[in-house]
Amino acid sequence: MKIITHQEDLTSLILQYKQEGKRIGLVPTMGALHQGHLSLVQESLFCTDVTIASIFVNPTQFNNKTDLLKYPKPIAEDIHKLEQAGCHVLFHPEVEEMYPAEDTSWDYQVGKLDHILEGEFRPGHYKGVTQIVYKLFKAAIPDLAFFGQKDYQQFLVIKKMVRDFNLPIQLKNCAIVRDDDGLAMSSRNIHLSAEERFAALSLSKALLFIKDNYDFLSLDELKEQANKFFTGSDVLKLEYLRICNPDSLQDLQQKGPAIALIACMVGTTRLIDNMMLA
Ligand code: PAJ
Repeated sequence: MKIITHQEDLTSLILQYKQEGKRIGLVPTMGALHQGHLSLVQESLFCTDVTIASIFVNPTQFNNKTDLLKYPKPIAEDIHKLEQAGCHVLFHPEVEEMYPAEDTSWDYQVGKLDHILEGEFRPGHYKGVTQIVYKLFKAAIPDLAFFGQKDYQQFLVIKKMVRDFNLPIQLKNCAIVRDDDGLAMSSRNIHLSAEERFAALSLSKALLFIKDNYDFLSLDELKEQANKFFTGSDVLKLEYLRICNPDSLQDLQQKGPAIALIACMVGTTRLIDNMMLA
């Protein structure tokens, strides 16, 4: 696997591949890789000729400094996992490479999605996400880019950005990979104590409850009963539990295509999860 740290070097390598007629797949990540990330790499290997994974803990998308500082960075293990997976190129830049001092502004208007759900609880988060993903798209010039349904709202935001800028990039949204007990894999799970990890199962259990009962209970009943999975535990603090239209992420008013989304503090760790309902 080639490891590249400068944007220019990445771009010239990719242009070479393109001249050879190869299709490029990009898997943007912040590292601390788990099977969820690797499933995106596998999908890219399947769909394209050259797979680039990026590892960059992007400071501009963290509105909580502690969260940024304690974000895990096991780079040696990550490199090993990517090599094992058969990834062709790792792009692993320093912060100064992606954000030279004079380059801090980014005026893209995310729109409505910036004010709801994750946007509401993490102000400025999607501004930072779109800023770095745009830079990665520019440097890697991918034909396809792979994102997880785990961050469903992020996928919609990036989809909108690709449309707004008319970028010739096809986006793929890949299924959530879960541990055997249902917990959605996340780089943040390593922060959970045994007690917290057990309590964290409430997220997937509540989502599964909503999915299983979607045809039988009203929207209010579904939300009321699912909320009960988060009561009676000292470590859980629910931020939101919503049933939304999968395109707009506006609260659903009547049954139809739907997605349920949850964000919850588990001790000091913030977890998100979601499930398509219909
Ligand atoms: P990160 O949280 O590292 O996630 C990288 C990609 O892996 C995202 O597309 C995310 O949705 C996907 N992913 C995470 N957990 C998953 C799981 N359990 N199953 C399937 N896919 C999963 O998302 C980011 O990084 C950043 O915001 C980024 C897009 C890299 C921009 O900085």
